[in-house]
Amino acid sequence: MNPDHPATLASLPPDPVSAAAEIHMSLMHWIDLEGVAHGDAAAIEHIALQFMLHGHQPYEGRRREDVNALEHALQCAHLAELAGAPDALVAAALLHDIGHFDIDLGDEVDDRHEERAAAWLQPVFGAAVAEPVRLHVNAKRCLVSIDAHYAECLSPASVHSLALQGGAMSHDEVRDFQALPHADDALQLRRWDEAAKMSGRLTPPLAHYLGVLASLLRQDAPRLTVA
Ligand SMILES: [Fe+2]
Repeated sequence: MNPDHPATLASLPPDPVSAAAEIHMSLMHWIDLEGVAHGDAAAIEHIALQFMLHGHQPYEGRRREDVNALEHALQCAHLAELAGAPDALVAAALLHDIGHFDIDLGDEVDDRHEERAAAWLQPVFGAAVAEPVRLHVNAKRCLVSIDAHYAECLSPASVHSLALQGGAMSHDEVRDFQALPHADDALQLRRWDEAAKMSGRLTPPLAHYLGVLASLLRQDAPRLTVA
């Protein structure tokens, strides 16, 4: 397995046990997992596998953007890093769309991917990672209401999903959203999300960001807690 190009299963042994062992050995080679609890290391392996299985898929399903799902995730995380965001927010940027990976309801239904992703992330990484992910869809609805320039720059696929997700927020909805813990992180994440769709943009490889996830999970690191 090459975490830089986890696009296919072709390089893995056909039986699941051997494939899982190869993924594990590859991660041990590329990422320093020392100090990460066994269950947490398994969570990182699960994330790597999800990107390997689904990263080649076009971002935003059949309403294609210029990047695939892995490229979009890496660009979003890279933009967070370049902005000096804390590791938890970089992780949220990387993982904000993993809820798309395990379900395909087509392009005409809101798949609630943010809720599924956040529910999985919360017990592993805590609120600092999970909540910006949970809120990133409503952050778009908020930004469309308060920032005309942001609304004009939405991609066609984002405009389409915005309608499915409830459209622009009302004044009262904006006020309530902005009062939520982690709303500021979610708004920032949403701006990186929209900018992370540039074909050919260079980023660090997935292994780099799996290392960021590992650093958040070391046993001696302060656990990210619910705000
Ligand atoms: Fe996204």
